[in-house]
Amino acid sequence: MLRVTQVTKKFGELTAVNNLSFEVAQGQVFGIAGPNGAGKSTVYNLITGLYDFEGSISFKDQDISGMPAHCIARLGIARTFQIPQTFPSLTVAKTVEVGSYFGSQAGFDRDHVEEVLTFVNLSDKKQVLTGSLNLLDKKMLMIGAALATRPEILMLDEPMAGSNSKEILRLMDLIRRINQDLGVTIILIEHFMKVLTELTQKLLIIETGTEICCGDPREVTSDPRVIECYLGDSHD
Ligand SMILES: Nc1ncnc2c1ncn2[C@@H]1O[C@H](COP(=O)(O)OP(=O)(O)OP(=O)(O)O)[C@@H](O)[C@H]1O
Ligand SMILES: [Mg+2]
Repeated sequence: MLRVTQVTKKFGELTAVNNLSFEVAQGQVFGIAGPNGAGKSTVYNLITGLYDFEGSISFKDQDISGMPAHCIARLGIARTFQIPQTFPSLTVAKTVEVGSYFGSQAGFDRDHVEEVLTFVNLSDKKQVLTGSLNLLDKKMLMIGAALATRPEILMLDEPMAGSNSKEILRLMDLIRRINQDLGVTIILIEHFMKVLTELTQKLLIIETGTEICCGDPREVTSDPRVIECYLGDSHD
């Protein structure tokens, strides 16, 4: 469904993504992990059209390399950001409406906005200003705004960061429901190996922008190269 082929991104002297290739199949939950600064978020920025790059990226056999970000979003690729981004002066409902207005080819759909608010468990906070939400609700809202665009692929950037174990379970449940109930393909950048092995069917490990290995999450996380480069003391 999504094919990244020999993609390289340089920021001046720094090669943030180095000749990286991978493929995400329809319906899959595909994980990406690697140490801080490995280039994970940059990969998202390339897929969603924020920067130019060398190599090619295709979505459903259409080359999307070099396409503007809003066109890529309308094709059905949505993402969330590592640090939750919301408009503090907008209400929860309006924020999801923005996704519905601008994201999807189908246009604004009030019923769908309501469905999304229920799906992310925010229907009782519809009129709350996003600036006063706690971190978990902000994350839920960011995911809700992305879902309002009716994506075929949802890319989540470290959704568990800063969450306690109870919140992690809720986010894991939400991700599972998005994948299984809504049929949305998911790419998940995550540091928590347990989350990755439980949720993903395929896992890519990168370090300094380069693939270390890619495959079955349990095999990948027990690969000595991965343990050495990444897992180390966080393995437990
Ligand atoms: N816009 C930019 N300009 C210059 N350098 C950048 C830019 N974006 C990212 N980088 C650099 O590229 C490298 C990869 O960054 P990236 O944010 O993709 O890493 P990451 O794997 O997401 O890390 P983390 O786990 O900390 O989120 C880092 O060295 C970072 O400083
Ligand atoms: Mg990052």
